[in-house]
Amino acid sequence: MDSGTSDFLDEVLRRIRSHLDGSEKVVDYTPQSSLSKIADLNIPLEGMGLENALEDIDHFLKHSVRTNVPGFMNPLWGGFNLSAFAGEVIATLTNNSMYTYELSPLATLMEQALIQRMCDIVGFTDGNGTLTTGGSNGNMIGMMCARHQVDPLGQQRGFDGKQLVCFVSEESHYSVLMAANVLGIGFDNVIKVACDFDGRMRCDKLVEEIERSRMNNQIPFCVIATSGTTVRGAFDPIKDIAHICADQELWLHVDAAWGGSCLFSAKYRQLMDGIELADSVCWDAHKMMGIPLICSAFLIKRPEILRKICSHGNVAHYLFLGDAEEVDLGRISLQCGRRNDALKLFLAWREKGDAGWARLIEKYVELADYLQLLAEENENLEMMSSRVWTNVCIRYTGQDLDHNSVNEQLRQRLVKSGNFMISQSKIGDDIILRPVIANPSVSTETLDNLVNEIVSIGNDIIRNIPFSS
Ligand SMILES: Cc1ncc(COP(=O)(O)O)c(C=O)c1O
Repeated sequence: MDSGTSDFLDEVLRRIRSHLDGSEKVVDYTPQSSLSKIADLNIPLEGMGLENALEDIDHFLKHSVRTNVPGFMNPLWGGFNLSAFAGEVIATLTNNSMYTYELSPLATLMEQALIQRMCDIVGFTDGNGTLTTGGSNGNMIGMMCARHQVDPLGQQRGFDGKQLVCFVSEESHYSVLMAANVLGIGFDNVIKVACDFDGRMRCDKLVEEIERSRMNNQIPFCVIATSGTTVRGAFDPIKDIAHICADQELWLHVDAAWGGSCLFSAKYRQLMDGIELADSVCWDAHKMMGIPLICSAFLIKRPEILRKICSHGNVAHYLFLGDAEEVDLGRISLQCGRRNDALKLFLAWREKGDAGWARLIEKYVELADYLQLLAEENENLEMMSSRVWTNVCIRYTGQDLDHNSVNEQLRQRLVKSGNFMISQSKIGDDIILRPVIANPSVSTETLDNLVNEIVSIGNDIIRNIPFSS
């Protein structure tokens, strides 16, 4: 290696260290109008050399949201996992593609080992699966497998999706709509089933909707249950839904992108009671397990269906040579070139073991219990939903408040202060604040500080609301 390359790598490593050791602030908030003025985004005709790359990196890091710090509690992931980070770097270093064993020998075996382990945990004894581009993609593949079951010839002939309908909870993730769009099912044919008070799909309503659709000459083909809804962290009753699916001969896909990690814990596994009865599952390791984006598994009970929907005959004779058909992962993936997302998960899992994941998940739920308690004990805060998982839905409250307006302003100010980033969401018509615990650096002290800051900003907002006459 020449000294220029070596020095450059040292400089990059120095920046990685200082990013990790640096400010506890989540972000130095800069509005888009200012950032687009100060950022040098010019794509040059003549290259500017490696020296400039270091400056660009400095600039980038300065304006990045620091997802590794405790105050980052916004989406369903966060924190920093060292072994997975190393895996990510090494996967990029080797820059292999996962389509053939020939190109990614050990990564192929690692991915298969991980998928088999996840299938075992789910209870798919003869299952298989693939790492995908995320839970959204996993939901789409689940829907595609379900469609294959009712219309196996469509792959060849094309689909007239007008009559096919699927069923999801009204609190399901928007990716099921995207999947319906991509597959030509159509938004109107994704039937939203009413939820109970706690945000779980109602089985009586599911049966009603299935029967109604049959009466309308539609063809139900799939139910997508959610384990860990995005806003409230609710878990649909899988076992009951699975029995309905068995009666009605429908495919059951479970979107466990967020909640799947409960399966590690003897204490919380029952939230997904009956998961082994599902036909397919997606589970994001890049959410609660803290693996860097992207790392997500799609798992299927009957692997031959995945193989069929991914089949492309022998047109790719330049890639897939007959002798490795069984082992080439490009035969069970919708992608051609595909990142190695296996190594980072493999390294992290070997470091922690199932027991380590279970401890992490249980600690997260304990911290969420603690935050709930703080909210319940504070006269300026109220819980906006029951909770079983680590989504804590709260809002600032007081007498005669325009709650939505105050909570919206509150979150804006909180994010701009740069100490915390939590998400804003809606339950019914109410705007809520939704911190989630999915970041190993969060502690009870972080949560004390979060509550103090929310209340102090809220108090300040209402002090400055002009009296109306
Ligand atoms: C319940 C649920 N399903 C699916 C997804 C989509 O996952 P991904 O972002 O990995 O595509 C999310 C994302 O937050 C989610 O909350």
